[in-house]
Amino acid sequence: MSDHGELNLVGMNYDKDRPKAERPLLIEDISLRDGHQSLFATRGRTEDMIPVAEQMDDIGFWAVEVWGGATFDAMHRFLGEDPWERLRTLKRYFTKTPFSMLLRGQNLVGYRNYADDVAKLFIKKTVDNGMEVFRTFDALNDYRNFETVVPVIKECGAHFQGCICYTLTEPRLGGEVYNLDYFIQKAKDLEDMGADSICIKDMAGLMSPYDAYELIKAIKENVKPLIHLHSHFTSGMSPMTHFKAIEAGVDIIDTCMTPYAYRTSHAALEPFVMSLLGTNRDTGFDIQSLADINGILEKEVLPKYKHLLDDTKVSMIDINVLLHQTPGGMLSNLVNQLREMDALDKIDQVYKELPRVRKELGQIPLVTPTSQIVGTQTVNNVLFDTDGKRYNMITAQVKDLCYGLYGKTSVPIDSQVQAKALKGYDRGETPITCRPAEVLEPELEKARAEIGDLAVDDEDLIVYALFPVTGKKYLMQKYGKEQVPEALKPITLDDVEKQNLMIEKAKKGELVEKSALAQRPEKSENARTFNVFVEGEYFEVGVDEVGGAPVITYAAPQAATAAPAAPVAGVVAPAAPAVQAPAPKAEPRAESAPAPAAEGTPMNAPMPGMVIRYEKNEGDTVNEGETVVVIEAMKMENALPAPASGVVRGIKYSSGDNVAKGEVLAIIE
Ligand code: CO
Repeated sequence: MSDHGELNLVGMNYDKDRPKAERPLLIEDISLRDGHQSLFATRGRTEDMIPVAEQMDDIGFWAVEVWGGATFDAMHRFLGEDPWERLRTLKRYFTKTPFSMLLRGQNLVGYRNYADDVAKLFIKKTVDNGMEVFRTFDALNDYRNFETVVPVIKECGAHFQGCICYTLTEPRLGGEVYNLDYFIQKAKDLEDMGADSICIKDMAGLMSPYDAYELIKAIKENVKPLIHLHSHFTSGMSPMTHFKAIEAGVDIIDTCMTPYAYRTSHAALEPFVMSLLGTNRDTGFDIQSLADINGILEKEVLPKYKHLLDDTKVSMIDINVLLHQTPGGMLSNLVNQLREMDALDKIDQVYKELPRVRKELGQIPLVTPTSQIVGTQTVNNVLFDTDGKRYNMITAQVKDLCYGLYGKTSVPIDSQVQAKALKGYDRGETPITCRPAEVLEPELEKARAEIGDLAVDDEDLIVYALFPVTGKKYLMQKYGKEQVPEALKPITLDDVEKQNLMIEKAKKGELVEKSALAQRPEKSENARTFNVFVEGEYFEVGVDEVGGAPVITYAAPQAATAAPAAPVAGVVAPAAPAVQAPAPKAEPRAESAPAPAAEGTPMNAPMPGMVIRYEKNEGDTVNEGETVVVIEAMKMENALPAPASGVVRGIKYSSGDNVAKGEVLAIIE
């Protein structure tokens, strides 16, 4: 055993005032970021973090991760919450434990490299709002994408934690690309950049216990900063992997509180606390306090999120990740995407195509945003490629990757794919080799001019600069210029109880269809929608209030998704049945709006998504193949070409609108 990590039993006093271990294992709790991001599609609300915040602050964590990754996006897009406000609010409760965030290098908390001016302001404002540890990664492990943010992190006096994305091309550590030497070199590079600590980020849970031992030991021997391990549970190996890492001398590990642990999330904290009790790596944590926190989470918080858990499987372990190395989050995205496109039967083709696409795109690690880039392109290839002709629909992000806008790939991109992607690419057909942000024009002043007075401070400006479409929508809501949609509002435990009652009714067959369509009342504007889950089936139930009692106006079975829209709150308790409420009726909703009757060639949405922008206006002339509209699906942009030459008519959507598959985006006459 290495002298770094020798694990010894040193005492038998297990109460909470036990003597401090010689070298306690340090723990970062990541329940409030990666925990709910992994299990509940990042839908955790600030108000549900507050009940445990002060107690968590007392535990003695090295840091708590509360921000970054997908939180910024999900909060403004799906929760109607100001991401900055979460930091300020939680800071009032966490007075001792440093805050940590996941920073996607020059991607910040978005899906592309932003210009240097945006990156610098983002870091400054994040520190101003209470951030202390910046866990910084780059999806390609190209540390040139750290060159702008790291000096700002350091100037602000914050902790720079450099990340190495852990990925494999073989079942175990090794092979041509991702071998021990690769990771040691990356650790040395980070040390040279001034990393205060180094994190190995195993986002897909691919690291096996013995590889962890070898890797951690080797890195500890080669560099001085603290070594931190982040390894997802997905494959089921992570508790063993962490334990071998502890034996190899790892300094810090990431864990979650039990209700946020396991599945595609992380190992739970409590078994580590118990396993290390009385050893020289004893965490020193009070197991009773942890149990108290778990109690609150279990009773007061998690019932509001349980419906977001992917309960289609009994198994907690995703065996596919061992077979296909497809990270859990990416896999559920792929499945959702295929399901929405009625192509779930193509999943095996997707598994086959994925390693091929990854290899062609430079054998890159799969982590946001590269997991989306590779995943979406794989789905596009499976769905839209025709015999022998591949890459028929290339996303804007794949083009950017081929141009070098994300950085240098681990191995060169396939030259044919690259040439095809860059044909007619607006920045030019010759890829760049410099640091990507060097070719990006400053973005801040342009964003400031575009958003104008709607951005009251720099924090607002950043929301817009990072997410122009959804960020603007959010700012309109924040300042009362647009109503906050019901679907974005939180639910209460009361609502959960009412939903459970509804499920009970459905199970007993009381949500029955009423035959006389004529008796169906008009759905009013006040109707609120519930998602009701019954044994794998999912119903959208609209509840309308008439004369003081809720009336069910429709109950439509929905395609189940792993992360359905958050159910909404606030149905009034059934008062005394003053009104003879019409019996609930169930009726499947129309698939999608019928195509408007018009001459010409309709442009149907090939996939569900959000309209980013129309590149042509009503009445413009287009040539076949020219881009008419750009839609975003799985966070990736797809430029949709005109199916024929002619005049553009029938545009009924605008930027920010969601469209279903098959909806008519325009008609070419
Ligand atoms: Co993670």
